[in-house]
Amino acid sequence: MKTILALLLAICVLDSYGKGVIHEKEQKAQNLSIRSGELWLDDSGHHINAHGGGVMKYGDTYYWFGEHKSEYTSDALVGVMCYSSKDLVNWHNCGVALSVTEELGHDIERGCILERPKAIYNPVTKKFCMWFHLELKGRGYSAARYGVAVADRPEGPYKFLYSQRADAATWPLDFGDEERKLADTLNTAHYKDWSSAWIKAVGQGLFVKRDFGTGQMSRDMTLYVDDDGHAYHIFSSEENLTLHIAELTADYLHHSGRYVRVAPAGHNEAPAIFKHKGVYWMITSGCTGWDPNEARMFSSSSIWGPWKQHPNPCRGPKAEITFGGQSTFVLPVGDRYIFMADIWRPQHPIDARYIWLPIDFEDGKPVINWRDGWDITKLR
Ligand code: DGJ
Repeated sequence: MKTILALLLAICVLDSYGKGVIHEKEQKAQNLSIRSGELWLDDSGHHINAHGGGVMKYGDTYYWFGEHKSEYTSDALVGVMCYSSKDLVNWHNCGVALSVTEELGHDIERGCILERPKAIYNPVTKKFCMWFHLELKGRGYSAARYGVAVADRPEGPYKFLYSQRADAATWPLDFGDEERKLADTLNTAHYKDWSSAWIKAVGQGLFVKRDFGTGQMSRDMTLYVDDDGHAYHIFSSEENLTLHIAELTADYLHHSGRYVRVAPAGHNEAPAIFKHKGVYWMITSGCTGWDPNEARMFSSSSIWGPWKQHPNPCRGPKAEITFGGQSTFVLPVGDRYIFMADIWRPQHPIDARYIWLPIDFEDGKPVINWRDGWDITKLR
């Protein structure tokens, strides 16, 4: 019986692997090189393992960084993977860019939660800087820190520098004397969650005050480098209720202490940002764990806000659940943009899939139309 089961399993595995290979050939024949939701094979024939990721362009090469996921757990057993490509279709596996460590009690000890890594190049220091969401091993999602690592080469190896919460003892930029005094009086014990008084108090800085001494929570995140070279860390803070946009120091390795809050009590995760014709656009998700939900979109003419919310930009089958995915990054290519998202598979994390779709514009606003397959060479 055991032998028959093993044989059946082997046939299924071979079959699904074969399907991946056939799809790749068909894709190339039709030149519909990007097929969201399918297996995406690297140059060694394995499904790309770079989830919650982002892409950095350096020279004429794209570097895709993402979470390595294992068969049965989303905990970090390996670290951050890096893949390189010149055409965004054929990917070379560069290996582990940032490795977790065996050292007990280390911030990035094997088994920690290390999510949504993003890397950017600093032209002043000539270093590559990686930021990621870090949860300490065995503490669930309670640590809510960001981690920073640095490398001399785009693909790494990245050296871990530190992890911490954000902006301790620092008020947001738009909090003047009056706002600070008011926030100082707020206490989470005085409110019932989701009551109108609580929602108002969240806006007034209820959680900023709660975490003022220890630092603000830092979970789902992205990085953004503006045209003027200033870089920003954008992350879910305040129990995932409010996004923070924090400016980085000139070396891109620390927060400068200047930050603003976006959509207090709006419950946004998975921020992905880009700038088009002078307007900053940010696509986010709601907070439903690994389950997909409806994408949100915000715009602002300044990184510091005010940010205005727009309707869901997705169109097509499953548009109301972001086509089954969750945003992770927007990659500019020429004068176009690629929306990147993850289709999570929490029961079999290594099999999570990718959604890459071009962003169209309707009446000046971003729209993400579903496509079964599309030709990335037509973007340029
Ligand atoms: C949603 C986040 O966007 C993911 O990165 C991950 O943290 C999951 N939640 C965990 O449930």
